Amino acid sequence: MCGIIGFVGREQAAPILLDGLERMEYRGYDSAGIAVRSETKGLQVKKTKGRLKVLADLTHGGADLEGTLGIGHTRWATHGEPNDVNAHPHVSENGRIALVHNGIIENYMELKEHLQKLGVTFKSDTDSEVVAQLLEYHYNECHNMLEAVGRVLRRIEGSYAFGIICADYPNALIAARKDSPLILGYGRNGNFIASDVTAVIKYTRDVAYMDDGEIAVLTADSVDVFDDELVPVEKKRSTVNWDVSAAEKGGYPHFMLKEVMEQPEAIRKTISPRIKNGRVVLDEISLTEDYVRELSRIFIVACGSSYHVGMVSKYNWEKLLRRPVEVVLASEFRYCDPLVDEKTLVVIISQSGETLDTMAAMREAKRLGGRTLAIVNVVGSSIAREADDVLYTWAGPEIAVATTKAYTTQLVLMDLVGLYLADRLGSVEQKEYDVILSEMQQLPEKMQQVLCHKENIQYFASRYFNHDSIFFIGRNLDYAMGMEGSLKLKEISYIHSEAYASGELKHGTISLIEQGTLVVALGSYGPLFDKAMSNVVEVKARGAEVLALTTENFREKMEKTADATIAVPVTHPILQPSLGVVPLQLFAYYVALQRGCDIDKPRNLAKSVTVE
Ligand code: F6R
Repeated sequence: MCGIIGFVGREQAAPILLDGLERMEYRGYDSAGIAVRSETKGLQVKKTKGRLKVLADLTHGGADLEGTLGIGHTRWATHGEPNDVNAHPHVSENGRIALVHNGIIENYMELKEHLQKLGVTFKSDTDSEVVAQLLEYHYNECHNMLEAVGRVLRRIEGSYAFGIICADYPNALIAARKDSPLILGYGRNGNFIASDVTAVIKYTRDVAYMDDGEIAVLTADSVDVFDDELVPVEKKRSTVNWDVSAAEKGGYPHFMLKEVMEQPEAIRKTISPRIKNGRVVLDEISLTEDYVRELSRIFIVACGSSYHVGMVSKYNWEKLLRRPVEVVLASEFRYCDPLVDEKTLVVIISQSGETLDTMAAMREAKRLGGRTLAIVNVVGSSIAREADDVLYTWAGPEIAVATTKAYTTQLVLMDLVGLYLADRLGSVEQKEYDVILSEMQQLPEKMQQVLCHKENIQYFASRYFNHDSIFFIGRNLDYAMGMEGSLKLKEISYIHSEAYASGELKHGTISLIEQGTLVVALGSYGPLFDKAMSNVVEVKARGAEVLALTTENFREKMEKTADATIAVPVTHPILQPSLGVVPLQLFAYYVALQRGCDIDKPRNLAKSVTVE
């Protein structure tokens, strides 16, 4: 949600800021802006409603703004509609302080009223402008920018990552963070701040992750970090080890398609280092055998697609561990007074590692004495750093708003953890363990086979793209997978879609099935295939058009009843969703393509949801 960037160095800032914002546009894209400072022209601000392209055209690729110090922002509106005035940067009343913000200032109304009483006039409806004005107020008091920032941070409540420049400090960029991501980038020709490493990777791989409460002062040659008492802090620097091409389209028309196609490799990278001599080895975590044996409850907590991974894992873990596993939406978990104690393992799943609800749920679990294990894709993200244990999905950067490779790598990693725990509990037979592990190693190859037939899915999409309501039905793992298939479709194609447990149809939903309604019937879970077939017959009898998904061994049977059939290779039942979801991702992609949707940046969405 919102991307911020800042640069101070020996090169023109505006083109660098625009380039960085382009790489972070997936974080928000309803308006964008930059502010640059130069000796001769002072603070220059350009901001506009609309995509980054509008801003780039308006500034001639940044050439219109002169200066080597600047900040930039791409917005996902929270307070105030997306328009030119509400776009960032926000400038204080005397025009000398400019600020970009990602997050939400919760007490902004009260601060705004206080400043208004002192005579300050506001231009925008945003919470962020209040901070710019408050900064001016405190700067006028103490005439020291670092001190003024410290005073402001003590007065504001909520979440923030700030980039700040001040006309009186021609060589300094100031940053601060709490509960919104912010990294520091150490470059040869200058230094950076950004919401995400993708924004700076072209210029430097040398980064540090800011912690909550920290303030940073950057010049072209130095980066000084302070805690909330303004005491200097030593930062640990890390090297980003993925290539810049990982965050580029590489010849594909959309990031989403590129990321779908990258899945076999992403899965290989996620599982290979963790399977040694026929055993799951998770050296990265510290769950002792005694702790696992003593466990009384397991929660899986996440949002959106990550929650859908939790749904699949609940079925799989309960089969493997013979222990109850509860899956809870993070936004519910944090407020439901969950039954967590020291014998509770809370597994947190998040691609970004920054989702606010998920982070808050994790903190609640820790507060109640539970142990947290995070499954995260973004290295160094807040959830990864705060969890008791973390396991990374090595999917690489995921840019498309709709998740694909992060979802499938989360699935396989959760299966690995399930096996690992089951092994410690002695709840899985050796033979079963060996078969699952061996099948898992064949997943990349089998997934590649599915991807090789993507044109078939494109054909089905061209047949069905103009339906206005689509149902996904399935049982057990097929139901959990259908939830993801349905979300993928609705979020990028804007077609209304629901996922139902097939057995529930006759308890209400079947009244919606009429002549021509498209039903995507999922029959890939072998043990319940016959039941899936009965449901196909049931909806067909009410006039539904059925697009079925099954496994190769059941293709013939399914073809006899369904109107169209997609078949994927057979694997162990618990791994089947990892293969089955791929045609569903492709179906959503091609339907959205046919409908002319903006696939990588669907309306109203953003990649990283750092607000509640
Ligand atoms: C859907 C999608 C979202 C995310 C959700 C959680 O395609 O990407 O539903 O899964 O916002 O995000 P993370 O996993 O970053 O916590």
